[in-house]
Amino acid sequence: MSHPFDVAELAATYANKSPQDILKLAFEHFGDELWISFSGAEDVVLVDMAWKLNKNVKVFSLDTGRLHPETYRFIDQVREHYGIAIEVLSPDATALQALVKDKGLFSFYKDGHEECCGIRKIAPLRRKLATVKAWATGQRRDQSPGTRSQVAAVEVDGAFSTADKPLYKFNPLAQMSSEDVWAYIRMLELPYNSLHERGFISIGCEPCTRPVLPNQHEREGRWWWEEATQKECGLHAGNLIAKN
Ligand code: ADX
Ligand code: SF4
Repeated sequence: MSHPFDVAELAATYANKSPQDILKLAFEHFGDELWISFSGAEDVVLVDMAWKLNKNVKVFSLDTGRLHPETYRFIDQVREHYGIAIEVLSPDATALQALVKDKGLFSFYKDGHEECCGIRKIAPLRRKLATVKAWATGQRRDQSPGTRSQVAAVEVDGAFSTADKPLYKFNPLAQMSSEDVWAYIRMLELPYNSLHERGFISIGCEPCTRPVLPNQHEREGRWWWEEATQKECGLHAGNLIAKN
């Protein structure tokens, strides 16, 4: 497999560089072929930084069909604020209807989130990433001590690369803390998801996200009925693979 650049070396060189430097590296190599994945939460910081470096930046969001109304409004607000098209990806209707017919709309509370996330997030993401050379996410090391403490500035995607195509994954915010992200949002007066005003820190789907109490870790508001250690929906499954 021939790589256009040495990922391990770049990850080491960029480990302590700024998010903007990491994004510049990504744009230098991939130009308009770099896709930003935007969840409709505080990763608006990533969209802002990327847009400031490249007004043609490509952005997609995974619409699971179960996001909060506030998140849908926010995604559209970001679209208008930056004047960018946001590609909103939907799940495959046939697979989704089969799941809901079989197990109802809240199967995840009974048998875990994997199946629902698989249909609503992972399959659409896999379809998208099959057409993409590189993507960037808003993952940060401080978001999940169990799974994200090693997140690199750049990596070969451990979950979505294929035998004939390495997929490059940039995590420009890896080194930022929640505090840094919020200082940036407030300093530059970026728009933000109004759920943050109601105790939500990490935001995913409505049935699977809840606000946290003071000093509770943000990840505890996600899939709270499940085991605390390995809270990944599969979008970033490479984090789990890397740990084993
Ligand atoms: S998740 O895996 O637990 O759902 P999290 O909410 O922490 O992810 O977000 C981390 C990064 O994953 C986001 O900054 C974004 O890049 C990507 N991401 C998460 N959810 C979505 C989504 N619905 N659409 C697009 N990207 C997403
Ligand atoms: Fe389904 Fe919950 Fe996963 Fe959203 S987070 S796709 S509702 S299991």
